[in-house]
Amino acid sequence: MSVVALVPAAGRGERLGADLPKALVPVAGAPLLVHAVRGLLDSGCVDHVVVAAPPLHVEQTESLLSGLSPVTVVAGGADRTSSVRITLDHVVASDTVVLVHDAARAFTPASVIKRVVAAVQSGKPAVIPVLAVTDTIKQVDASGVVTATIDRSSLRAVQTPQGFALDVLRRAHASAGDTATDDATLVERLGIPVHTVEGHPHALKITTPFDLAIAESHLPTP
Ligand code: C5P
Repeated sequence: MSVVALVPAAGRGERLGADLPKALVPVAGAPLLVHAVRGLLDSGCVDHVVVAAPPLHVEQTESLLSGLSPVTVVAGGADRTSSVRITLDHVVASDTVVLVHDAARAFTPASVIKRVVAAVQSGKPAVIPVLAVTDTIKQVDASGVVTATIDRSSLRAVQTPQGFALDVLRRAHASAGDTATDDATLVERLGIPVHTVEGHPHALKITTPFDLAIAESHLPTP
């Protein structure tokens, strides 16, 4: 039962405000993507990684990842869902467990990756790492006026890697008309249960310059 990790890394990362695509921005001595791919391979439970690179930076991405193996680099798509779909075409039949992991969650600890893989290998069709929500969450209307306060006890913030049985992820992407901000959403649309395991604060998605500063100063490389 081999495990492949798909890494969508083709975003421009405009909220980071860097000159480079976010995945290629250096932090703690290496580009985010290098930390992310190394973390997957070093977890000891990932056999192969397929990266969706920014289309104008495929060769540069190949060169940055040349020291890591086995890794395949392909050009990503117009949005995250398309990028994942492109990498899915490079999965081989023996890859029965598929992880999808945002390059932006470059400092995800191995313990999270292992929990997700173990849960899929134990027979769960779809598994996501989550954290309890600590802020009070309110819904607002178009002018910013509060319309409801949501009971946070049943809410979870969702991280990656998300893990799937290969056939489940293939069906989810084949039947998904719309894009989604994660892959579990596509599986939910099929009516297939998505299970949760504990995530980790270090698996934060690096989105803003503040996140980058936190990563640089506080996050251990996986
Ligand atoms: O934009 P956001 O931070 O939600 O993107 C999540 C992940 O999806 C990032 O790792 C980003 O590089 C990736 N992505 C992609 N292809 C796109 C847009 C985003 O692979 N066209």
